[in-house]
Amino acid sequence: MLEPIVPLGHYPTTRLRRPRRFAWSRRLSAENRVAVDDLIWPMFVHEGPEAAIPVASMPGVFRYNIERAIEEAARARQLGIPAIALFPATDPAKKTPNGREALNPENLVCRTIRALKANVEGLGIICDVALDPYTSHGHDGLLRNGYVVNDETVEVLCRQAVVQAQAGCDVIAPSDMMDGRIGAIRKALDEAGFEHVIVLAYSAKYASAFYGPFRDAVGSATNLGGAGKQTYQMDPANADEALREVAMDIAEGADWVMVKPGMPYLDIVRRVKSSFGVPTFVYQVSGEYAMLRAAAERGWLDLESVMLESLVAFKRAGADGILTYFAIEAAQLLRRT
Ligand code: PBG
Repeated sequence: MLEPIVPLGHYPTTRLRRPRRFAWSRRLSAENRVAVDDLIWPMFVHEGPEAAIPVASMPGVFRYNIERAIEEAARARQLGIPAIALFPATDPAKKTPNGREALNPENLVCRTIRALKANVEGLGIICDVALDPYTSHGHDGLLRNGYVVNDETVEVLCRQAVVQAQAGCDVIAPSDMMDGRIGAIRKALDEAGFEHVIVLAYSAKYASAFYGPFRDAVGSATNLGGAGKQTYQMDPANADEALREVAMDIAEGADWVMVKPGMPYLDIVRRVKSSFGVPTFVYQVSGEYAMLRAAAERGWLDLESVMLESLVAFKRAGADGILTYFAIEAAQLLRRT
């Protein structure tokens, strides 16, 4: 018989409550902790002039203009947050079926990257690669007869990645779920001289209804008009398939991998971390944020407690880094304690 991994204890000699008695002994026994170093703050930007427009379905989250984005990014940097992830709310007039604004070196996200790089030192800048902020149909890729075509989309994504790297983006994060895009983007970046740009693959990205508030924030919900992304994002019923996605992305050159959404998919985070031992990121998505925030606003949950509990749950599941809209508040809390 194999030894049990966790040795059995016997009461009354073994009393698991013993170290739980004091704050100091609980601190010493803690197996996981969240640090500011683990946090990535997703930030929405828009074409001014308003400094900050609230996102209705995400109380406490705003779309910033570039000027204000610089101030907010500096605040994140000061709090010790290592990186932010930028998401543009594109002017609807600039959205087209082929999303060509994605390739414009003067588009909103590229201008924001340059402004941040010029004004905020030592803060990592992460950008999504996907066409949904730019397409009139709201999909992440090119539509042919109602289907998002794979290989043609990948070619555009490679160009989008290079444009963003040229603007100064540190981490390219493909969130489109096309097959083969990680290898193609890695190659395109290397050929353009960006061999040091990190690739963070949204590897196990599920077709989730928890993205609803995000789509309001970037304005893609109306473009999608009720259509779903099930033909490219993963089926929430699947877990083994997530491991195949991650394995492929690592083989194609991903530096970091991601599971998304977060809380409903902690089993996937654990399996990815245990199976591959690579830097594993998790995205606490807009709907997760909205749920906690809404319940707290009604006085049904204590926001600070559920925020920190949800973040430590990601660490326990094996996450190294966490994308969360709570990043600023969590950093403030973590620095206080
Ligand atoms: C775009 C993208 C989405 C999110 C991040 N990048 C939405 C989607 O795939 O429809 C979701 C983030 C969130 O809900 O917070 N490809």
